[in-house]
Amino acid sequence: MLRIEQLCKTFVRAKEFNAVDEVNLEINDGEFIAIIGKSGSGKSTLLNIISGILSPTSGKIFFDNKEISSLSDDEKSFIRNDLIGFIPQSTVVLSTLNVLDNICLPFFLSKREGDPVGRGKYLLKELGIENLETSYPRELSGGELRRVTIARALMNYPKIILADEPTSDLDVENTKEVLKTLKEINKKIIQQLY
Ligand SMILES: Nc1ncnc2c1ncn2[C@@H]1O[C@H](COP(=O)(O)OP(=O)(O)OP(=O)(O)O)[C@@H](O)[C@H]1O
Ligand SMILES: [Mg+2]
Repeated sequence: MLRIEQLCKTFVRAKEFNAVDEVNLEINDGEFIAIIGKSGSGKSTLLNIISGILSPTSGKIFFDNKEISSLSDDEKSFIRNDLIGFIPQSTVVLSTLNVLDNICLPFFLSKREGDPVGRGKYLLKELGIENLETSYPRELSGGELRRVTIARALMNYPKIILADEPTSDLDVENTKEVLKTLKEINKKIIQQLY
């Protein structure tokens, strides 16, 4: 599904350095993979490149054997908005939108047709936060907010979920719950239940 070849990202800070240095990686359908490395080792940079937030300095990324840089802008946007569900390192939500509207947001950024509200409500239920539908982000706990970003990542029926330290700011109990949820999502995506 996803193949990365010789991926590099060079940043300049006083002098040039490679935050991502010749990374090769292959991820097949249904796999559940953790990328481990100390702080500053380039994990977020790698995920940001795969999700299209950053562009690589060199190297190639293939989705289903199609190299992304050779695709048209429309096809690239489709990959970003519809094939990949991204859960960022910090919980980025829009504070002026309620939980349901935050979850539906990726739908409105895609060219998808359908019923975003129905889908949003379904995902709220799946993640066990249906009671928070009309709440605002400031009223939520860290674990609840994390579930909102997971639901939002699932909105457009992604084929792959990228999560950047999805449990880093959670207590032990919430960490277990969120990991369990991500594993369930992983299984359901293969069965096309999401
Ligand atoms: N836009 C940038 N400009 C310059 N340097 C950057 C930029 N973004 C990241 N870096 C540097 O690249 C290196 C890798 O950063 P990155 O955020 O990918 O690390 P990380 O493995 O995700 O760390 P953490 O575990 O703390 O989240 C760090 O040294 C960081 O300071
Ligand atoms: Mg990081």
